[in-house]
Amino acid sequence: MHIVPDRVKQGSTNIIQNMDDWRRVHLSSMSDPDTFWLGITNELIDWQTPPTEGLVGAFHSIADNQVSWFADGKLNATISCLDRHLLTHPEKTAILWEGDEPDDVRAISYRQLHSDVCRFSNALSSIGVGLGDRVIIYMGMVPEAAVAMLACARIGAIHSVVFGGFSAESIANRIEDSRAKVVITMDEGLRGSRKIPLKNTVDEAVQSVSGIETVVVLKRTGGEISMTEGRDIWWHDICQNMDDSHEAVIVPAEHPLFILYTSGSTGKPKGEVHVHGGYITYTAFTHKTVFDLREDDVYACVADVGWITGHSYIVYGPLANGATTFMFESTPLYPDAGRYWDMVERHKINIFYTAPTAIRALAAKGDNFVEKYDLSSLRVLGTVGEPINPEAWDWYYDVVGGGRCTIVDTWWQTETGGISISPIAPATPVIGGSATLPMPGISTALYNAEGQRLIGPAEGLLCIEHPWPGITRTIWGDHERFVNTYFSTIPGLYFTGDGCRRDEMGYHWITGRVDDVINVSGHRMGTAEFEAIIIEDEAIAEAAVVGFPHEIKGQGVQAYLIMKNPSETYSEDLAKRLNLMCRKSIGAHAKVDYFCVIPGLPKTRSGKVMRRILRKVAEGDPSNLGDISTLADPSVVEAILTSKRY
Ligand code: PRX
Repeated sequence: MHIVPDRVKQGSTNIIQNMDDWRRVHLSSMSDPDTFWLGITNELIDWQTPPTEGLVGAFHSIADNQVSWFADGKLNATISCLDRHLLTHPEKTAILWEGDEPDDVRAISYRQLHSDVCRFSNALSSIGVGLGDRVIIYMGMVPEAAVAMLACARIGAIHSVVFGGFSAESIANRIEDSRAKVVITMDEGLRGSRKIPLKNTVDEAVQSVSGIETVVVLKRTGGEISMTEGRDIWWHDICQNMDDSHEAVIVPAEHPLFILYTSGSTGKPKGEVHVHGGYITYTAFTHKTVFDLREDDVYACVADVGWITGHSYIVYGPLANGATTFMFESTPLYPDAGRYWDMVERHKINIFYTAPTAIRALAAKGDNFVEKYDLSSLRVLGTVGEPINPEAWDWYYDVVGGGRCTIVDTWWQTETGGISISPIAPATPVIGGSATLPMPGISTALYNAEGQRLIGPAEGLLCIEHPWPGITRTIWGDHERFVNTYFSTIPGLYFTGDGCRRDEMGYHWITGRVDDVINVSGHRMGTAEFEAIIIEDEAIAEAAVVGFPHEIKGQGVQAYLIMKNPSETYSEDLAKRLNLMCRKSIGAHAKVDYFCVIPGLPKTRSGKVMRRILRKVAEGDPSNLGDISTLADPSVVEAILTSKRY
């Protein structure tokens, strides 16, 4: 256990300074959530009509009604992110951007960001985007991605950012599901000097679906692309004659701010809906509290805006808090494995937030890359996205943090909107691998598979008991799926899909997903998504995909294949073909690491695949397969155990 270093405590004005504060604040958030959150939102957020109502609804009645927070209030989240800062610190850097090349740096002040967003808001209005319209954003990590998000929000449109690694088919699915009418993209992305053909991918997506009226294209590399007349327009052209002032459209608190698609254990990705009032309150509060944000901090989250971490902790939370938020276009390994630490030194970064995958990959490159830089500006180190193994945690703490910083291991999800279990930087003693304690407003509960609540130290299914302002309100267009996905496992509670151990101190140790979701390098994917693609191949009769522990990526992907022709075996051609299909259908991050041809899947007599057996074998833990007596054909287990993986 590490107590909080003095350097982290000194000068803090956090509402939670020590564990007594934590207990008091957490208790007040539980005993009177309405008063607690109304107090927080009225302090942190600019409301045009301040709310008097807190929570309406409950998890046990969520099938009948969505929950709401602050429903009688009116606002626009971008006023809190932009306009109000013009009164107090217009020249402060809002976005500090570093491009693919280290010398390509831009510092954008709050005044400039406000102008850029206003201009683009006017541009979007001029092409007919209005209240409630959906807009897909498919861009690299450039400041204009944040401008596009904020401009949509400002006019009351609903953005849906699609991570730049996703394929044309994935974009098309999202266009169809959200019924978007505009796509905002750029000619090419740039990562590690590699060009990513974003506009070409959008062209392919838009051709295959109907409904897209306009594609707005930002020029980044000047690479050759084709522009379709009457549909495609350049960002700079559309903005050219636009006014740089724009009055934000005031919306009710529950008006959708964005839809973000995420993978689940079944079916297509789900469009999680987040709303102006609750989301901006929760992200601002957690960002300020967890990281112990100070006025002059340079805060860097090196995630991508295509994922929820980028939404909540690069764009909305930090800007609502008037922070300087760093945005990074490149990769941690370009031009070499010292890139992050070089940036920390040059920009004097105080708070640095990344994922365990990156930490493991960088630790493997050796300490030299860290030690040559002056990292004395660092105060708080964050991690998110996957469980962090103790070795990686220790390296982050000792080598990067030099023992002077604290680590906040922040557990949360696309669905939770913001950090839900985490240390609070100046207050919480930390232990490598534990996300420690729930945030104010979050009451966790552990259940066993039989639906019994576990008390005290225990390991079980991680649930949350009561609604908090940041929770996703529904799945876009499918509230029934929302209810079935999250509220049916343990009726009346939100089930996270994660397993968790709680120790004697009440600290939480996330053990990973207990459903059929895999987490590869922090990228969340459904095994069912892989399976649906693989069985499209003419040679494949059936397939089952599972995750297995991977040293760097956290989890790898293993596919079990049953061939139509039983004499056919594994070949490199087959592997290439299947991986190409996954890449084309999902995106560049969807890759099967190992294939394993087996004669049949382990099915029960009722036809259900016992995925547990496949998982255990892939994990290299075949000694503990559990009860296999209900299998229709127990002999397949022997075949699975002896089959080779390629
Ligand atoms: O399994 C948990 C893991 O990431 C899942 C959520 O993924 P996503 O919605 O893509 O959001 C990722 C960024 C918030 C969770 O169900 N996860 C996230 N943070 C942690 C984690 N697992 C362990 N420790 C964490 N700190």
